[in-house]
Amino acid sequence: MLFTTFLSLSLACTITISSAQNASEIKEQLALEGIPALIHGDSGYIAASQAYNLRYTVEPIAIAYPTTSEQISTVVITGADQKLNVVARSGGHSYIANGLGGTNGSLVVDLSQMKNITVDLETGNAIIEPGNRLGDVALALNDAGRGLPHGRCTYVGIGGHSGFGGWGFASRMWGMTLDNIISATVVLANGSIVTASEDLNSDLYWAIRGSSASFGIVSSLEFHTHPVPSSATAFEFTWEMDIPTASAAFSAFQSWALNGSSIPPEFGGEIGFLKGQAYGQVEFAFLGNYFGPDDKFNETIAPFFGTLPTPDYANVTQGTWIEALTAIAAGNMNTSTQPDSNDTFYAKSLMAPESVPLTNDSMTALVTYLAEVGYNSSDFWHVEVELYGGSQSVINQIGLNDTAFAHRDTLFTFQPYASSPNLLPPYPDSGFDFVDGMVDSLTSHMPDDWQWGAYPNYIEDRLPDWQTRYYGSHYDHLRVLKAEFDPTDMFRFPTSIEE
Ligand SMILES: Cc1cc2nc3c(=O)[nH]c(=O)nc-3n(C[C@H](O)[C@H](O)[C@H](O)COP(=O)(O)OP(=O)(O)OC[C@H]3O[C@@H](n4cnc5c(N)ncnc54)[C@H](O)[C@@H]3O)c2cc1C
Ligand SMILES: *[C@@H]1O[C@H](CO)[C@@H](O)[C@H](O)[C@H]1NC(C)=O
Ligand SMILES: *[C@@H]1O[C@H](CO)[C@@H](O)[C@H](O)[C@H]1NC(C)=O
Ligand SMILES: *[C@@H]1O[C@H](CO)[C@@H](O)[C@H](O)[C@H]1NC(C)=O
Ligand SMILES: *[C@@H]1O[C@H](CO)[C@@H](O)[C@H](O)[C@H]1NC(C)=O
Ligand SMILES: *[C@@H]1O[C@H](CO)[C@@H](O)[C@H](O)[C@H]1NC(C)=O
Ligand SMILES: *[C@@H]1O[C@H](CO)[C@@H](O)[C@H](O)[C@H]1NC(C)=O
Ligand SMILES: *[C@@H]1O[C@H](CO)[C@@H](O)[C@H](O)[C@H]1NC(C)=O
Ligand SMILES: *[C@@H]1O[C@H](CO)[C@@H](O)[C@H](O)[C@H]1NC(C)=O
Ligand SMILES: *[C@@H]1O[C@H](CO)[C@@H](O)[C@H](O)[C@H]1NC(C)=O
Ligand SMILES: *[C@@H]1O[C@H](CO)[C@@H](O)[C@H](O)[C@H]1NC(C)=O
Ligand SMILES: *[C@@H]1O[C@H](CO)[C@@H](O)[C@H](O)[C@H]1NC(C)=O
Ligand SMILES: *[C@@H]1O[C@H](CO)[C@@H](O)[C@H](O)[C@H]1NC(C)=O
Repeated sequence: MLFTTFLSLSLACTITISSAQNASEIKEQLALEGIPALIHGDSGYIAASQAYNLRYTVEPIAIAYPTTSEQISTVVITGADQKLNVVARSGGHSYIANGLGGTNGSLVVDLSQMKNITVDLETGNAIIEPGNRLGDVALALNDAGRGLPHGRCTYVGIGGHSGFGGWGFASRMWGMTLDNIISATVVLANGSIVTASEDLNSDLYWAIRGSSASFGIVSSLEFHTHPVPSSATAFEFTWEMDIPTASAAFSAFQSWALNGSSIPPEFGGEIGFLKGQAYGQVEFAFLGNYFGPDDKFNETIAPFFGTLPTPDYANVTQGTWIEALTAIAAGNMNTSTQPDSNDTFYAKSLMAPESVPLTNDSMTALVTYLAEVGYNSSDFWHVEVELYGGSQSVINQIGLNDTAFAHRDTLFTFQPYASSPNLLPPYPDSGFDFVDGMVDSLTSHMPDDWQWGAYPNYIEDRLPDWQTRYYGSHYDHLRVLKAEFDPTDMFRFPTSIEE
């Protein structure tokens, strides 16, 4: 089943390279318009075509570096003339190298030269170009006393992040990153440059908030931002636990999340599982941010924390908004001070609906799997269990149909993840079954008709029913819009919306 799905995905994406596709010609055409590009043989091409996930080797026909929407339009038209797949790359952190096209021969529109950020001090609205990384965004907004909800990894690009979701510890308070987009400038398949907002091209505005890459190249984003909270807490606790203790802790986390009155929106957090120190054990982690008053932190977490043993490691840091974000970003937010990293991994996602909570059996099964199969594995793995829900979560108060993001009833988003032992290639074959088994341990202890989803920012190309898992009830409408905005399927990659 997995194999056939993977095969049909790859087949659907195979393009025929016609003789018209001449990399040198593309480079020359773009150069005439003042747009630099790298092609095979150029020094810099190999580094520029490196994926974040080194499990992927992808060779684009060319990587272009536009600086304006007009230049992006030129690149798109050049790609159309040559019948190429065209893809945008903002931060390049796609899990399956979709920013490079996911498959060989695409024309990559690299947005790294488009890094402007302008904050309107009257309205607090910010115009952010897609070449910015989350660290750049957080620092620039903070200078104006503003903030956005987004993930905690400094080098993730705002372009991809806001195109498919964007979850962080401020999301229960302010929504997903994409929920804060007021308007966007988008370059369409025919090269037109349009504004997408509630009033202008509202279908496109809907589609780019959940599935942007299939519809165009977003060249600028206008966000509604928020005044930063006056104080913020960053916390991390870890425990070495046996199977019964970790299963009970997991169950207590769910009970806390489901208790309607318990968790204020200012709280954002997750639990995590890592390899334990002995067979039959896991390391259990609880981490996040709290954006309410410092002296309310203990009582906020008490209903859950109070059920747990004394932690082996505890670190609670209180300070400003930006200090709290920095603390959970491994201490660095400034992308100029150290280089980006990379990894060699396979990751999945599972979005568990709030309406059908996890059974104790499913939670115990995952913990047992991690404490036994996980202990035996030499891969470097973890499972994050991110809190999306709880009755006061803004993520779930936004209407299901308001944006293309198809998940407004999520309690937890799981991210099962395993890297090769030294984080470098080759990726061990056993890693695929190992990570698939993490998800299976949960689903096999839930009702057969359990409607779990998958998170399109934790994208994978081995997921059966990916259309429904990622896009749920929105998939059919996305196909209609795809046919309208991209009739030749130019913005194509392994998980793009099908014609
Ligand atoms: C270390 C790490 C930590 C992460 N942490 C979080 C987290 O805390 N929360 C969370 O929600 N996610 C997280 N993610 C997932 C992340 O949100 C996605 O990988 C995201 O899509 C990456 O965006 P990018 O611009 O860096 O990637 P890219 O590879 O550049 O792009 C990803 C996809 O978006 C498309 N795209 C990019 N820019 C544009 C554009 N301007 N217009 C149209 N399409 C575009 C690309 O074509 C590609 O399909 C994390 C990922 C990593 C690697
Ligand atoms: C590709 O384009 C270059 C530059 O225009 C040209 O010199 C070359 O002959 C072309 N190659 C092929 C195989 O068409
Ligand atoms: C791209 O081409 C290279 C070189 O031929 C190959 O090693 C790689 O596997 C190809 N990548 C994909 C995604 O097909
Ligand atoms: C870039 O930002 C600066 C200051 O924030 C602004 O003055 C300028 O107009 C912006 N440039 C573009 C091209 O948006
Ligand atoms: C689930 O496990 C918790 C903690 O181990 C326990 O308190 C609770 O009663 C269990 N629930 C069910 C339905 O068995
Ligand atoms: C639900 O949360 C409230 C507020 O924290 C707490 O008083 C109550 O005991 C909780 N109920 C359960 C069943 O945990
Ligand atoms: C919160 O709890 C920690 C111990 O977990 C304690 O050291 C600290 O003093 C408490 N803070 C407040 C404000 O009660
Ligand atoms: C606690 O976290 C802060 C912020 O990340 C960090 O600077 C500090 O070193 C940590 N302390 C310990 C004891 O780990
Ligand atoms: C990031 O670091 C660079 C180099 O040290 C520095 O010039 C720049 O001002 C820093 N940016 C911010 C936003 O702090
Ligand atoms: C991956 O990252 C490591 C450490 O940051 C670096 O040394 C290495 O050159 C990178 N490899 C590639 C292929 O980018
Ligand atoms: C883990 O490895 C041990 C020692 O080889 C073996 O006895 C045990 O059955 C393995 N456990 C699993 C779940 O594979
Ligand atoms: C969303 O739209 C679908 C299809 O148009 C409709 O069936 C459904 O009731 C709507 N859901 C909500 C929550 O509005
Ligand atoms: C470009 O495509 C859009 C969306 O399909 C369409 O509305 C517009 O008229 C097209 N522009 C041109 C010049 O064909």
